[in-house]
Amino acid sequence: MSHNHGTAYTIWFSGAVCLVCSIFVCLSAVMLKDRQEVNRQLDKQKNVLLAAGLARGDEELSNADVQQRFASIRPVVVELKTGRELPDVDASTFDMRGAQADEATSSRAPDNPAKVLRVPHNGIVYQVMEGGRTVKLVLPVSGKGLWSTLHGFLAIDADTTTVKGVSFYEHSETPGLGGEVENPNWTAGWVGRRLFDDNWLPVFQVKKGTAGSAAEDPHHVDGLSGATLTCKGVTALVNFWIGENGYGPYLKNFREGGK
Ligand SMILES: Cc1cc2nc3c(=O)[nH]c(=O)nc-3n(C[C@H](O)[C@H](O)[C@H](O)COP(=O)(O)O)c2cc1C
Repeated sequence: MSHNHGTAYTIWFSGAVCLVCSIFVCLSAVMLKDRQEVNRQLDKQKNVLLAAGLARGDEELSNADVQQRFASIRPVVVELKTGRELPDVDASTFDMRGAQADEATSSRAPDNPAKVLRVPHNGIVYQVMEGGRTVKLVLPVSGKGLWSTLHGFLAIDADTTTVKGVSFYEHSETPGLGGEVENPNWTAGWVGRRLFDDNWLPVFQVKKGTAGSAAEDPHHVDGLSGATLTCKGVTALVNFWIGENGYGPYLKNFREGGK
């Protein structure tokens, strides 16, 4: 037995199916939005913990673990140009990447090798606290590699020059080549390196080839073979964000005790 329906019925039926499906998609997008935001926040916190050495990449952390470890971290918003802390700005909801993309809350960056186009007026600093003292500062860093913009966190000792850790959490470099920026064996080699020279100029460099030990070759880390262009980008983005157009003024205030 076959049913023949008219064209109008077919159109009506397809329209009804489309409508039901689109309502379903819209509802799930709206209902999941809060959860996605929570997950994004947790992911960011986890990466701050990784850079700060408060979590390992191979550790399975529950949401509660992340929150518990993050309790020792004090996020603070700072005005990048002056390096002043802005205690009245709520750091828990501050979206630095959003601020960087928005012309109202950012300025054009001077030409720079990290190809950072805009700098937000304000940035976030994650202060790692121990016994009421700030022992490390974790700064967000970003800039162009070969194919993509890399985003990561750089943890620095309270001396404002010694690297305590680094984590890259977003990029589209080639897995096995530039993608090795995520490899914990490579990032472990950053610990103990120094970002600034004796005159507080940023001189950090990912070398082409192998660096010496942190004691003999404090300003360099090993290059990634077959990924020289990604490494150049990493060198440039670190020096940009610790420099005068990034967190330089904040780091200066911090080490001089005027935070
Ligand atoms: C398919 C493909 C993917 C590549 N991906 C990267 C990459 O992610 N990062 C990078 O620096 N170089 C990448 N390269 C290599 C660069 O083109 C360039 O040869 C390399 O950066 C030079 O590094 P080396 O001097 O260490 O060999 C890629 C090359 C090919 C063919």
